[in-house]
Amino acid sequence: MITIISGTNRKESNTLKIAREYQQILEVKGIETGILSLEDMDVLHYNAAFEKIENEVLIPSTHLIIISPEYNGSFPGVLKMLIDNSRSHEIWFHKKALLTGVATGRAGNLRGMDHLADVLNYIKITVHPNKLPISVVDSVVGSDGKIIDANTLRAINQQLDEFIFWGALEPQNNSVEKPESVN
Ligand SMILES: Cc1cc2nc3c(=O)[nH]c(=O)nc-3n(C[C@H](O)[C@H](O)[C@H](O)COP(=O)(O)O)c2cc1C
Repeated sequence: MITIISGTNRKESNTLKIAREYQQILEVKGIETGILSLEDMDVLHYNAAFEKIENEVLIPSTHLIIISPEYNGSFPGVLKMLIDNSRSHEIWFHKKALLTGVATGRAGNLRGMDHLADVLNYIKITVHPNKLPISVVDSVVGSDGKIIDANTLRAINQQLDEFIFWGALEPQNNSVEKPESVN
């Protein structure tokens, strides 16, 4: 199971728009995914709702695509709370993750993705080296929430093709060939 985590609880976030775009692009590539949006989650309390998400989403997910906004030069506290509030580190062990940063500024959360990769490595998650910064996101996403910037779409497609190959994912429609960048 492949889960895209939208790493903020902020309403109408650009991060969730990008997460939905990732889901659509992967669908075209023959890869089915689910979205876990922290907007809908109480990550502060360990309760029945949190436990249900652990059992039904986090534990069965072998691959995580984490879209993380840049908040004060790093990834959001709610995303750290998702990890810190979970039952045990062991539910994260030995999974594979792909990271994308989202920011209105120029850095595209590069620093925050490095912070996040360090935390994920601590809980034995292997992170794909292509951590994609999406900077000046306001000019990348149109009013309908779709990505309108051709270079960004190209970079996402390349990143996802690499992830599919690296993660040994099996597209349903044979649409993804080994990307040149991993030859
Ligand atoms: C609490 C907070 C802190 C932020 N800090 C930064 C920052 O350090 N650098 C930056 O480029 N943008 C910063 N932003 C703006 C976000 O990059 C912008 O909201 C972007 O759309 C991604 O966040 P979103 O998914 O919540 O929309 C911040 C936004 C919030 C809400």
